[in-house]
Amino acid sequence: MIMESRRIHTTSTWQWQVDSLPRRRSELGILIDTVVRFIARYVPNAKLRIALYRALSVRIGEGTWIGGSTWIDCVYCKGKVSIGRNVTISGHSYFIAHDPFEAVEGKPIVVEDDVFIGVGTIILYGVRIGHHAIIGAGSVVTHDVPPYAVAVGSPAKVIRYRQADS
Ligand SMILES: CC(C)(COP(=O)(O)OP(=O)(O)OC[C@H]1O[C@@H](n2cnc3c(N)ncnc32)[C@H](O)[C@@H]1OP(=O)(O)O)[C@@H](O)C(=O)NCCC(=O)NCCS
Repeated sequence: MIMESRRIHTTSTWQWQVDSLPRRRSELGILIDTVVRFIARYVPNAKLRIALYRALSVRIGEGTWIGGSTWIDCVYCKGKVSIGRNVTISGHSYFIAHDPFEAVEGKPIVVEDDVFIGVGTIILYGVRIGHHAIIGAGSVVTHDVPPYAVAVGSPAKVIRYRQADS
């Protein structure tokens, strides 16, 4: 019974999202973007991954590296994710720029220069990660992280600050 009620809830949420999509985007455009993002996520070459994500309106600075299986919101909400220069994003990380219970257009995620993001991190909508910050493996980032902070856990909390020269 509980399973059934969850299934119905999920379906209605999905339907709500689809109904509220901007009408100017065609279904074909969304399908193409979805396929391109799939390739970007799984292609073994990191440079190609970055080129494909840029083509999908993700802003990515020079010198940045993005690991495989990383998922970036860029099909339904365009241009919301901005990643600075010399950022390392370890594989299996997720950038979720939209809240399914609010506007599907999403809220910006900003990763400033020289940030290191550990493997399997989830970064939620509206978050800014300050330059030179480190995010520990498997963290869920729900609030802004100050520059030079080392933040870990779910939700991610600052455990210390890096030295400016480290
Ligand atoms: C964030 C990180 C750099 C912290 O390293 P550190 O400064 O040496 O921190 P420590 O190992 O001294 O740990 C300090 C505390 O934070 C905790 N902690 C460290 N990393 C954590 C993480 N990812 N999630 C939750 N807690 C973590 C430790 O358990 C420790 O807690 P305690 O004081 O209660 O024992 C490191 O743990 C990490 O996650 N590195 C990322 C590795 C990675 O993803 N590599 C990419 C491979 S492609």
